[in-house]
Amino acid sequence: MRAVAWHGTADVRVDTVPDPTLQEPTDAIVRITSTGICGSDLHLYTVLGPFIDEGDILGHEPMGIVEAVGADVHHIAPGDRVVIPFNISCGHCYMCDTGLQSQCETTQVHDHHTGAALLGYTKLYGQVPGGQAELLRVPQAHYGPIKVPEGPPDDRFLYLSDVLPTAWQAVQYAGVQPGGSVLVLGLGPIGEMCTRVAQHLGAEQVIAVDLVPERLARAGAHGVKTINLDEHDDLPGFVRELTAGRGPDAVIDAVGMEAHGSPIGALAHRLAQLLPDAVAAKMVEKAGIDRLAALHLGIELVRRGGTLSVSGVYGGAVSPMPLLQMFDKQIQLRMGQANVRRWIDDLLPLVTGDEDPLGVDDFATHHLPLDQAPHAYEIFQRKQDGAFKILLQP
Ligand SMILES: NC(=O)c1ccc[n+]([C@@H]2O[C@H](COP(=O)([O-])OP(=O)(O)OC[C@H]3O[C@@H](n4cnc5c(N)ncnc54)[C@H](O)[C@@H]3O)[C@@H](O)[C@H]2O)c1
Ligand SMILES: [Zn+2]
Ligand SMILES: [Zn+2]
Repeated sequence: MRAVAWHGTADVRVDTVPDPTLQEPTDAIVRITSTGICGSDLHLYTVLGPFIDEGDILGHEPMGIVEAVGADVHHIAPGDRVVIPFNISCGHCYMCDTGLQSQCETTQVHDHHTGAALLGYTKLYGQVPGGQAELLRVPQAHYGPIKVPEGPPDDRFLYLSDVLPTAWQAVQYAGVQPGGSVLVLGLGPIGEMCTRVAQHLGAEQVIAVDLVPERLARAGAHGVKTINLDEHDDLPGFVRELTAGRGPDAVIDAVGMEAHGSPIGALAHRLAQLLPDAVAAKMVEKAGIDRLAALHLGIELVRRGGTLSVSGVYGGAVSPMPLLQMFDKQIQLRMGQANVRRWIDDLLPLVTGDEDPLGVDDFATHHLPLDQAPHAYEIFQRKQDGAFKILLQP
């Protein structure tokens, strides 16, 4: 089969590799019809190289048609249309029972002291071959795959794998209340979906910050008050003015820290080199090349007693945090990988009705053949060609 494999920093290729086979009675094999590229894949593209081997297959936002199931898989059958959650969870351990599927005790990666294994996401998360491929072996398939109806295009359902549950959890963890206020840092697919979910759940004031003009325009078009990081010397002051002098009830960090963490540190500069000069310069000047800047900005912006909900991925073991300010402001902090299966019952009705309340139908900017994955990664990473969300179609 053809599959997107990692070959080095900013070097992904489409390789021909052996087809996957059923290995456990709880496995399924799925023929992939659409598969997203996530902001988390960009961390692999640029920064997390030390944890990947050449040839590892990427991707954790797949959907497709079931080809084969193991003897213990009963809720899906060959021919079914399914979306695969990015975390691999068993559905019957203590953590899965409490809705913490991203901490599944059956698939935790003990070698690295991390939570549940993830599709296509480095040795830190089990080195499981990913879903940017023609075929995918799905472990724990007696629980994970989500059956979806025939009919609408893949775009309707694909985001159940990651974007929708991640954004939904970020907003739930933010404690956004009807009539309340929330500010989202970062308007990539995750941040923008957070603004849509917050609006859907009745937040009165939804503010968002980014520095890519097209991304600000996208969110502005559906009623988000957008702020270009680049245009404000006193962002906290400006945000306080918008929020009765206090700051928003909650801040969601949907940026993450690409350029930080133990084996990772100095690679920040390499990241900056990969961006067009203008964007790189802005990041260095305004966003800070060390992306803790976004997290620290969130702490500064949120109102006293407010909640900071972190969905951006951070990797640093010794990241300095402003504990005095966090304690003094009595900030509540929640974070983590999305517990995908936990939110599916809430989300399915929103993507299976006639309406499209979260705007998934037009969410993707690019649909490209799998063979164009190298180009797709490049434009997504460089934010070129309007690339916002790219779906590959094997
Ligand atoms: N928690 C989870 O389960 C989970 C799931 C999916 C993605 N993620 C993480 O969420 C984050 C966002 O993912 P994405 O797909 O939207 O990625 P993305 O890279 O497309 O989006 C990040 C956005 O942040 C903006 N940005 C950079 N610095 C900023 C700053 N200082 N202030 C404001 N905005 C800034 C960028 O311009 C970009 O638009 C990533 O860190 C990703 O790894 C987490
Ligand atoms: Zn992801
Ligand atoms: Zn489990």
